[in-house]
Amino acid sequence: RRVAVLISGTGTNLQALLDHTKGGLSGAEVVVVVSNVAGVKGLQRAQEAGVTTKVVPHKNYKSREEFEAAVNAELQAARAELICLAGFMRILTGSFVRAWRGRLLNIHPSLLPAFKGMHAQRQALQAGVTLTGCTVHFVSEEVDCGAIVTQEAVPVLPGDTEEALVERIKTAEHRAYPRAMELVARGKVVLREDGTCIRS
Ligand code: GRF
Repeated sequence: RRVAVLISGTGTNLQALLDHTKGGLSGAEVVVVVSNVAGVKGLQRAQEAGVTTKVVPHKNYKSREEFEAAVNAELQAARAELICLAGFMRILTGSFVRAWRGRLLNIHPSLLPAFKGMHAQRQALQAGVTLTGCTVHFVSEEVDCGAIVTQEAVPVLPGDTEEALVERIKTAEHRAYPRAMELVARGKVVLREDGTCIRS
């Protein structure tokens, strides 16, 4: 499967996907990395891996629809079949999400459905849970709500700071995202019409 990765920043998850796909044993191949922010570390990571990069600055567009049309043009040009959102900080419209239904993944730093939205790690610390983690899910129109592909649990340790927890969850993310991408790219997990996953 031809995979596009959408980023806005550092791209450590992108790096995990790139590392996973090199060597040719994966069912996925990263064919383009699109960022809505210029100059970010993730773009450099893609370039170093020899992957085409595109910058589509959202600020250059009058509306979300026009921005997404420009993103879509890059995805079509690269003949992308599957999209992985990896720290992409723009909310996508319903029409974009519907167009890529079943072919659009996101990673979130909590065990969904707990701690949706921003600062999920801070929310976990404030709630006093002793276990949190990360979730890779199909994107649905409601934010952080789509069918779950894979999850990994991460302990919250006594005296944890937000930074420490962010980093601990990231190490789990870097295992979970390649695993989820592989499952979807190989058709082992498929989004059904009713919004649930079928696994084989
Ligand atoms: C990750 O924590 C991910 O769960 C969230 O954004 C962060 C991206 O980090 N959606 P990176 O750019 O991949 O390092």
